[in-house]
Amino acid sequence: MNDDIELSPDARVELNDGNRMPLIGLGTWGLRGETCYRAVREALDIGYRLIDTAPLYHNEEEIGRALRDSGIDRDEVFLTTKVGTSDMGYESAIRACQDSLGRLGVDQVDLYLIHWPSEGKNLDTWKALEQLRSRGLVRSIGVSNFTVPMLDELLFSARVVPAVNQIEINPFVYDRELVRFCSNNRIHLEAYSPLTRGNCLQEKEVLQIANAYERSPAQILLRWALQKGLTVIPKATSSAHLRENYNIFDFELYFGDMDKLDALNTVNCLIDV
Ligand SMILES: NC(=O)c1ccc[n+]([C@@H]2O[C@H](COP(=O)([O-])OP(=O)(O)OC[C@H]3O[C@@H](n4cnc5c(N)ncnc54)[C@H](OP(=O)(O)O)[C@@H]3O)[C@@H](O)[C@H]2O)c1
Repeated sequence: MNDDIELSPDARVELNDGNRMPLIGLGTWGLRGETCYRAVREALDIGYRLIDTAPLYHNEEEIGRALRDSGIDRDEVFLTTKVGTSDMGYESAIRACQDSLGRLGVDQVDLYLIHWPSEGKNLDTWKALEQLRSRGLVRSIGVSNFTVPMLDELLFSARVVPAVNQIEINPFVYDRELVRFCSNNRIHLEAYSPLTRGNCLQEKEVLQIANAYERSPAQILLRWALQKGLTVIPKATSSAHLRENYNIFDFELYFGDMDKLDALNTVNCLIDV
């Protein structure tokens, strides 16, 4: 959907509902307490304008505080949270969203996602998200970890087509069929674990490409995802990582190197968490 966007730090992709989403954000899984507060403040100072959280991460309060203390206008920051598995269902999803807004200290989030599919509960939960959207508590709604059959089922009865599917994508995990399906249905893909949770950064092919461009392996993986038209949400704690990950807009991977990275889909270096 962002095929014709010029890749720059301020660029935003237009979602199927007209809202605009940044191309890079901070993932916050594993960031807690003051570490989370500090990382989010620093990310916002660097220029990140998308923060991804979930009740499961136990950091919505710190993120809300960091946002307020940053002094940045609320409308400039694209805030995402999610309805967790234990809150799937119509009433509980409505309540869960209100609870998240309370913890974040905001009136509205920019994107609200179903965190994980739950058999038999996806459709009712989706109705709740549609309702939250029409009440203005969330601007865009989407899903996460949805496969093609799950999306097919949802699209059959949904009034609102999901704006986003947040899934694991990096050169080592790339489901072509799902990517094609989402693209055909104007569902924007947001790549989680774009850095392979750190597991595959030392793979030989990645290191070779990184050396050739004089960039870090992390920058190569993130740039690959940007050039695929994805939004990326790398998680980082240290200042060095936060800066390095944001600094991916001043170089371009050539087709041949994109192809080499595409070919890594069969390499098994990921460790399940
Ligand atoms: N929807 C879902 O089901 C779902 C599932 C998983 C993740 N997510 C979201 O996606 C975000 C990102 O995914 P993730 O946290 O699984 O993994 P990730 O972003 O692929 O990797 C994070 C790891 O990479 C390290 N790192 C960051 N920048 C680096 C750099 N420049 N060089 C070397 N290492 C670097 C981090 O270390 P430091 O922290 O020490 O910097 C951390 O250990 C999550 O935080 C969460 O917001 C969503």
